[in-house]
Amino acid sequence: MPVACGPSRPRPPATDRKLPRVNLLRRPRRLRTTPAIRRLVRETRVSRSQLVWPLFAGEGLTAPVAISSLPGQQRHSLDSLARAAEQAAAAGLGGVMLFGVPLPEHKDATGSQALAADGILNLAIARVREAAGDDLVVMADTCLDEFTDHGHCGVLRDGVVDNDATVEAYVAQAVSQADAGAHLVSPSGMMDGQVAAIRRGLDAAGFEQVGILAYAAKYASAFYGPFREAVASTLEGDRRSYQQDPANRREGLLETRLDLDEGADLVMVKPAGYYLDVLADVAAGSPVPVAAYQVSGEYAMLVGAAERGWLDRRAVLTESVTAIVRAGADIVLTYAAPELAGWLEQ
Ligand code: PBG
Repeated sequence: MPVACGPSRPRPPATDRKLPRVNLLRRPRRLRTTPAIRRLVRETRVSRSQLVWPLFAGEGLTAPVAISSLPGQQRHSLDSLARAAEQAAAAGLGGVMLFGVPLPEHKDATGSQALAADGILNLAIARVREAAGDDLVVMADTCLDEFTDHGHCGVLRDGVVDNDATVEAYVAQAVSQADAGAHLVSPSGMMDGQVAAIRRGLDAAGFEQVGILAYAAKYASAFYGPFREAVASTLEGDRRSYQQDPANRREGLLETRLDLDEGADLVMVKPAGYYLDVLADVAAGSPVPVAAYQVSGEYAMLVGAAERGWLDRRAVLTESVTAIVRAGADIVLTYAAPELAGWLEQ
């Protein structure tokens, strides 16, 4: 069978027609010929409403401070945080993920400021809710690492993070975050049983409508490097005794299944771009929405190379987030969220 020409191509006189040099039934290039046809058949569409912007609130700040390892991102004062939340809502983003950075003198061994109603993260949650109401989904990091003087995600016993004592602190922290107005609490410390305990604690406190976005498969990744500067982390050593080994794929499914059984409303894979296999596994089996976190190091690599002129910023940020959605993420946390929102098709 001769291959049909496109309808707009002028037909050559019959005598000039020759058979194509290759005679193929399938020519995938047909669906790549124009921007319109490519747009029509695109399998993965990224929309603003699925993007979540991580934001940092710094205690004692009266003006935002640039985070040098995360170009374009800031540690916010409460006022500038409120403006960022308004910007996120106006851009049509899905939500914000809030982190608090206390003053160094407010860090202690148990991270007590993480639970305090006037701790910086709880003040930030309240301020963002006041500014954005229900126009954004307000999420809060439920973890102690920004608030402990040793920088670990929990309380220590004999130099090791004590799972069950830490879970108790997370429950109190989650309730304080719900009280401050968080729509979703987001336990990120990878303690065993944290989701079940938080669910029970929220329910007992009357917050049965506050959801849990569980950092289900979270790896002990070197790609969190710039985040450590963003939150002025005091961590020495690493988190390998509680976060997952980057070499383990199957374990991501175990962690996800446990969190689902414990009542997670959404599950997350983190980091995202180097963990697309884990993300695809989780997305294939998850009965709840799946989020993925394009973490600080992923963002910093792309924008750092772009600043040197080695990569095209818009192209690589768009491609990287498209790949994360293609792999199965319904929701993407990314520092590029507002920038992407300006570029995406409506
Ligand atoms: C823990 C937490 C971390 C990140 C998000 N939540 C740091 C860690 O686990 O070491 C990292 C996010 C990023 O790198 O962008 N509170």
